[in-house]
Amino acid sequence: MKEQLNDLVKRASEEAKKITNESEYLNIKSKYLGKKSELNTYMSNIKNMNSDDKKLYGPLFNKLKKEFDNLFTKYYEESLNKNEIITFDPTLPVKEVDGSLHPVTIVARDVTNILKKMGFMVLDGPEMESEYFNFEALNIPATHPARDMQDTYWLDNGLLLRTHTSPVQARAMQKYGAPIKMCVPGRCFRNEDLDASHENTFFQLEGMVIDENISISNILYVMKGMLREVFKQDIEVRLRPGFFPFVEPGFELDCSCTICGGKGCPTCKDTGWIELCPCGMIHPNVFEESGIDSKVYSGFAFGLGLTRLAMMKYKINDIRYLNSSDLRHLSQFNIR
Ligand code: PHE
Repeated sequence: MKEQLNDLVKRASEEAKKITNESEYLNIKSKYLGKKSELNTYMSNIKNMNSDDKKLYGPLFNKLKKEFDNLFTKYYEESLNKNEIITFDPTLPVKEVDGSLHPVTIVARDVTNILKKMGFMVLDGPEMESEYFNFEALNIPATHPARDMQDTYWLDNGLLLRTHTSPVQARAMQKYGAPIKMCVPGRCFRNEDLDASHENTFFQLEGMVIDENISISNILYVMKGMLREVFKQDIEVRLRPGFFPFVEPGFELDCSCTICGGKGCPTCKDTGWIELCPCGMIHPNVFEESGIDSKVYSGFAFGLGLTRLAMMKYKINDIRYLNSSDLRHLSQFNIR
């Protein structure tokens, strides 16, 4: 019996190596594990064995059954991977597809390309974020009223959906230290009631510069340079005080209205200005929390609303179009 079993194992292993597709996998399974298989015949003979043999062969047959099954599955899965390598050639040119880039993708690319030219690196961060990076590391402790303005979705795994791209400020400081110039385009979430200008899912672009002697004039220089490139025209900007716990001083940066050129129109509510980008000088507590000496370094950060920018650039009057997947809307932006 032992010899027969050894022989069976040998044959099954040899054949398993030859599996190249699903039908071969199913055939070999039925041949070695099916009702009419050799192994099954041996198993049904067990009732005629003496009790010592029963004790020996009973568990052995079961073990073999499992091992065969694992073996066949393993070679079948390997064959799938091999097939994939053969059919997917990453060097082939991209196929012409019918469609266009999403307006938010277009402005995200525009802005990151401009910032890259200024020496910013482009980073990414998790959309499922910890309370520590989303709030605490940014000088927003659990009891801080600023948390009310950024109500979010808490997940069963203890994480939350990030309410802004700012957590990547702290992540980047802890990973790369100072000096640093970086930007982070990304998706953010807030528990909002939806209307024409509020969505629960939107996009921001975080920017951060840390070095010695960085001041507010650096913010203005970078923002003006960036907006000039985005809108292909000179844009006036102004700073108003704004409060965010992770910057001091903090500002709202407004730009002159691109629709009326600053004269006053419905879009800018007759003020000539459009609120575009909160920003400010990084708070010493944020530096210290992430291990950067605030007596040596200073820096600024901004959180550009990419969704807002896309709406301004393409004159989209309702934010809900952007996540609607409506092809009639998307196909208007014929840019690839
Ligand atoms: N993260 C802030 C928000 O979403 C914006 C911000 C970014 C403010 C960077 C200051 C500096 O409201």
